[in-house]
Amino acid sequence: EIKGFLFDLDGVIADTAKFHGQAWRQVADKVGTPWTDELAEGLKGISRMDSLQLILEASGQGDVYSDTEKAALAAEKNRNYQTLIATLTQADILPGMKAFITEAKTAGYQLAIASASKNAPLILEHLGLTDYFVGIVDPATLAKGKPDPEIFVRAAEILALPPAQTIGLEDSTSGIEAINAAGATSLGIGEPTVLSAANLNFNSTADVTLEKIAALMGE
Ligand code: G6P
Ligand code: MG
Repeated sequence: EIKGFLFDLDGVIADTAKFHGQAWRQVADKVGTPWTDELAEGLKGISRMDSLQLILEASGQGDVYSDTEKAALAAEKNRNYQTLIATLTQADILPGMKAFITEAKTAGYQLAIASASKNAPLILEHLGLTDYFVGIVDPATLAKGKPDPEIFVRAAEILALPPAQTIGLEDSTSGIEAINAAGATSLGIGEPTVLSAANLNFNSTADVTLEKIAALMGE
């Protein structure tokens, strides 16, 4: 029986995946990595430093930059990103998600945040959603990022639930893999062909309701 939901943030609750993309694209241009749909997709869900490494490796530059230079590039990306998210408001909650979060909480489900983003607490404040969640996994304390299951295992721990009693919501392939490996039920939001490993799939956040989830789970 499902008793909790583990939410990714960027691209699931907040309309911020586009801002991560824009900010990374500036870095990719700077280091001379061509921007492709595949690269953009692969960047979703993974940590800041893993993202930078992927961008450098995409143009064969994985070992070209020193750790200091990499830290500077990542800091520059984060400054660009923080400028883009500075004006976020409740209007930037993705369609239907405020309603779903409210519906789930009212129905007695426990909610936690499993986002790789160190900006997650700030974004939740901007969106006025902080109080709906029992807790937020601190990504700085993780040994491994998505697709490793650790972040979803930790989010279920925050709720004091076994992962099998939770559903994880994700827009990234790395996140779906992480949810599956944690032993939770994965709910993919986006193109079913991209998120083909998801147990359940919705094309849009606007489609996510308890009733539709129950229908997909065959209850
Ligand atoms: C999320 C996003 C990624 C981002 C990561 C780290 O997982 O989907 O695109 O790279 O968080 O975010 P941060 O805000 O810590 O740089
Ligand atoms: Mg995401």
